[in-house]
Amino acid sequence: MKVWAAGDIDAAGDTKTLLVDPKDLVTPLARERARELGIDIVTAGATPTPPAVTTPTRAAVTTASPVAVPGTPKPVPREAAGGPVRSMRPPSGALYRRGAPLPSAITSSGRGGAGRVVVIGAGHVGMITALRLADADLFDEVVLVDIDEGRAAGVALDLTHTAALGGFATRVRGTGSVEDAGPADYVVITAGRARQPGMSRSDLVSTNAAIVGDLAGRVAAVSPHAVIVVVTNPLDEMTHHAWQASGFPPERVVGMAGVLDTARFQALASLAGGGRADRIDAVALGSHGEEMVIPLSQATSSGRPLTELIDKTTLEAVVDRARGSGAEVVGLLKSGSAFMAPGTSAAGMVLAMARDRGQIMPAAVLADGSYGIRDVYIGLPARLGRGGVREIVELDLRPDELRALRQAADRIKERLSQLAAVS
Ligand code: LAC
Repeated sequence: MKVWAAGDIDAAGDTKTLLVDPKDLVTPLARERARELGIDIVTAGATPTPPAVTTPTRAAVTTASPVAVPGTPKPVPREAAGGPVRSMRPPSGALYRRGAPLPSAITSSGRGGAGRVVVIGAGHVGMITALRLADADLFDEVVLVDIDEGRAAGVALDLTHTAALGGFATRVRGTGSVEDAGPADYVVITAGRARQPGMSRSDLVSTNAAIVGDLAGRVAAVSPHAVIVVVTNPLDEMTHHAWQASGFPPERVVGMAGVLDTARFQALASLAGGGRADRIDAVALGSHGEEMVIPLSQATSSGRPLTELIDKTTLEAVVDRARGSGAEVVGLLKSGSAFMAPGTSAAGMVLAMARDRGQIMPAAVLADGSYGIRDVYIGLPARLGRGGVREIVELDLRPDELRALRQAADRIKERLSQLAAVS
């Protein structure tokens, strides 16, 4: 059994047809790369139609692959950001051997799932993320990684026990390291210290920067074609930091915050008389914190402006409560922070990318000049696809909303320079 990642397709060179074993797992990014290169992926014995031209053996691919670059790669220059991912070196065959083998039960069943997601951190957020991902029955495998390997394995086993209840065939595994998890299509980083009562997100900055920076570098070495979704706080700064530490193009490093903040606004606006939460359209932009911007010009319920359904004072209170929701939950829990909505939001982003329907979601992305903001990770509406961010979408914001968004960008930049000073 072999996992065919995008790097293997590169290593296959001039081959026109790649014969894979029915037990092999071909990741979505590998399929995409094959399409780009005009290589047909044929499952041995599955289709009688296309004759196999060349069948590179596993050994041939392994020996042809250069050794993965160890350590932390340098950030990709912005000009190169949109460039072909192919310029990156493929992973070594050794990395595949290090990963625990996938069970044949799923891959040989011919389900043809959407590959592997690695969720780093088997705390509450990681647990809910894994649960939602498994329940979606889309991926071949979800791997939980935690320095407490027993915890990761225990949560994974517990979740595996729900397969019949949840109706999924996704394999769930728990392990102690990114390297053991093996190459992934999507990696969700939830690891880090959680906020304690009275602690601001920014208080977490130095501790979590060290954790996230180390993880992003290791993820880049093991899964050089993955999309990283950062959940660790302080979110905007940690996403920026993970992008730099990974050396990935910016479209493959996104932060999860806008989906969560939007969901909180939708829920709270619903409670305030705005109709069903899932019929409220809104978007939370800016920072995941004080400078959160929820433009009311964009907020509707079943197509009607929310401002027609909820009075101005109440609506402003709803925005404030959404902005403070993380802290409100921390205050109630007394230990640890929110996890239901954060985990569901992170999984939602991964599912949107894997389904590749071009869904627009607010996400922490590297601003590209849209909204007059650039060179900083900030919450903006982004069209997501299989390979990460397809584009940043410009909404028609009111001048005051745009001003608030730009102020958020300035504040995040300030905090990033403080982070650079301490690290
Ligand atoms: C929250 C934390 C996860 O908003 O930032 O709940």
